[in-house]
Amino acid sequence: MWGGHFQEGPAPLMEAINASIPFDRRLWREDLAGSAAHARMLADRQVISGADRDAILEGLQRIAARIEAGQFEFTTALEDIHLNVEARLTEDIGEPGRRLHTGRSRNDQVATDFKLWTRHAMRRADELLCGLQRVLLDLAEKHAATVMPGFTHLQAAQPVTFGHHLMAYVEMFGRDRSRFADALARASDSPLGAGALAGTSYPIDRHSTARELGFSRPMANSIDAVSDRDFALDYLASASIGAVHLSRLAEELVLWSTPQFGFVRMPEAFTSGSSIMPQKRNPDAAELVRGKSGRVIGHLQALLIVLKGLPLAYSKDMQEDKEGVFDAVDNYELVLRAMAAMLEGITVFEARMHAAAGVGYTNATDLADWLVREGGVPFRDAHAIAARCVKVAEERGASLEELPLEVMQSVDGRIDARIFAVLGVENSVASRTSEGGTAPVRVREAIAAARIRFL
Ligand code: ARG
Repeated sequence: MWGGHFQEGPAPLMEAINASIPFDRRLWREDLAGSAAHARMLADRQVISGADRDAILEGLQRIAARIEAGQFEFTTALEDIHLNVEARLTEDIGEPGRRLHTGRSRNDQVATDFKLWTRHAMRRADELLCGLQRVLLDLAEKHAATVMPGFTHLQAAQPVTFGHHLMAYVEMFGRDRSRFADALARASDSPLGAGALAGTSYPIDRHSTARELGFSRPMANSIDAVSDRDFALDYLASASIGAVHLSRLAEELVLWSTPQFGFVRMPEAFTSGSSIMPQKRNPDAAELVRGKSGRVIGHLQALLIVLKGLPLAYSKDMQEDKEGVFDAVDNYELVLRAMAAMLEGITVFEARMHAAAGVGYTNATDLADWLVREGGVPFRDAHAIAARCVKVAEERGASLEELPLEVMQSVDGRIDARIFAVLGVENSVASRTSEGGTAPVRVREAIAAARIRFL
């Protein structure tokens, strides 16, 4: 393609280090779409003839059919998807093929292809996140009133409902969706028409190619257009945060499915056994959701580091942008699907959650709050009284509600028999009716509101 002033072909090692076709062939649809838009625009602007345009469009369609059918021979000698397509097109249709690259460079071409591809991936992420939210909402609905222990420091803190806990993740995935939406909006200007870096002397129309490709406008600066990979960073950053959310949920599933917690059973189809320990049921898929977050985050770091020292405009280092993004997209989409499927098949042991909810004096705050409400005791004093009751109960190996009234009254005379009504875990969650709180009435409202916000 550029042999004019070269005497030798590339060394085999040059071909090995230089070729991107083994991975950038994934951009073939976007590459063909970009070429078709460019050819149409060139003809509209009378840079090429209508006959050339028609030959090119027809040739591109034949190439699409061949790639689709697995009959296109990609070759590393032609470096990348752009040269593979252009060479084959020229082989097929002759001279019109040699006119396609007028007013264009592989620099704006690859930026356009990759940006289009990443925009599709952003839209898919949104759909998958929405699907996961739907599964979580259905599960939360079933368990709006299922009581479980809430934790801080992984120590039993206060009773909550399982539905409320799940809704925390619905919120996280909602923010992930908004990050992808922002990224998509920021990536809505087209690099095509920037040429190698400086623009072109042909009377091109960048607005029409942008529109045809689904962008809203051309990028404003030709140097930026060929140097920018922010769209890829935006995807990776959004996916990294999203993968961290998935990893935290996966970690909870791993914990909850241990015999020691016993809150849930993972669907058998997403677990494995042990070749030595007959009793084992390992939550492999959840562990891999947790583990793959490291991989996605790693790809973000890798691309940031590739880009950080690059002078404007294009440098070949930028060819290193694709594999990490492809791998991050594949794995992020995989864990989103796997998480939704696991949650759909999960068994929830409500009785076990309920029993655990009261363990560890999780109703101590309720005792203190009762003293404030019914006895007019300042909260700090009530806190100290409840703490003394916990100490007495611990010494007796009892729970708070198992303490005889006289014993509680010996700690503070203002406690009376009505206290027993507030010490149960059901009462505890039902009382937390503040906005965003865990009371089942609030959780049901939150679910209804989330269905409107997110689905
Ligand atoms: N294969 C290259 C890439 O992926 C395409 C752009 C090549 N541009 C160049 N000036 N050599 O980045």
